Amino acid sequence: MDLRVVDHPLVAHKLTVLRDEHTDSPTFRRLTEELVTLLAYEATREVRVTEHSVRTPVGPATGVALTRPRPLVVPILRAGLGMLEGMTRLMPTAEVGFVGLVRDEQTLQASTYAERLPDDLSGRQCYVLDPMLATGGTLAAAVQFLVKRGANHITCICLLAAPEGLEAITALLDDLHVPCLLVVAAVDERLNEFGYIVPGLGDAGDRLYG
Ligand code: PRP
Repeated sequence: MDLRVVDHPLVAHKLTVLRDEHTDSPTFRRLTEELVTLLAYEATREVRVTEHSVRTPVGPATGVALTRPRPLVVPILRAGLGMLEGMTRLMPTAEVGFVGLVRDEQTLQASTYAERLPDDLSGRQCYVLDPMLATGGTLAAAVQFLVKRGANHITCICLLAAPEGLEAITALLDDLHVPCLLVVAAVDERLNEFGYIVPGLGDAGDRLYG
């Protein structure tokens, strides 16, 4: 798995405001969208395009159009939903699939409560959205859904990752032999005894929707 930590002052600034415990929900939601758009710019560097001709008011020009089949964006409910708008703003023609996963607060095991994905993902470029990569269990489960449907080009976008989660998801993807890119705004220090990223930004789902 390739890891890309987006090193940009605007990303760092928006992330700092997200981390601030005094940032209210409306501001948190807006900044999440803005931050995702910046991360998505990096994450879509390898999106497939095909040569496309247009006519400008001055004459013919050759450019590009997104290749079909369209990319698939998969927000992991619930917190990943807060990232969807920021992603589709950049790639409005993408199809959207959904996976709902929740982590048990005691065992930290992720369980699935919703899944709405196209049956065949072979040849599709898939972009998974989840703000937090903590133990990695949630992202691993979502990636497994995609791989079972034939996906072999997966990009994950997270706001924050813990080293423990990075290790877990790297091991899974190595086992599955699926190339994957993970784009994050920052890698934090560690997980605490409750499975929260330290220093992190708290519970992203609660701060977006709680
Ligand atoms: C949080 C977070 C990630 C997951 C990360 O979701 O949004 O999806 O935990 O944890 P992991 O890497 O240890 O699996 P949560 O289960 O709280 O659900 P929510 O998005 O509905 O708030």
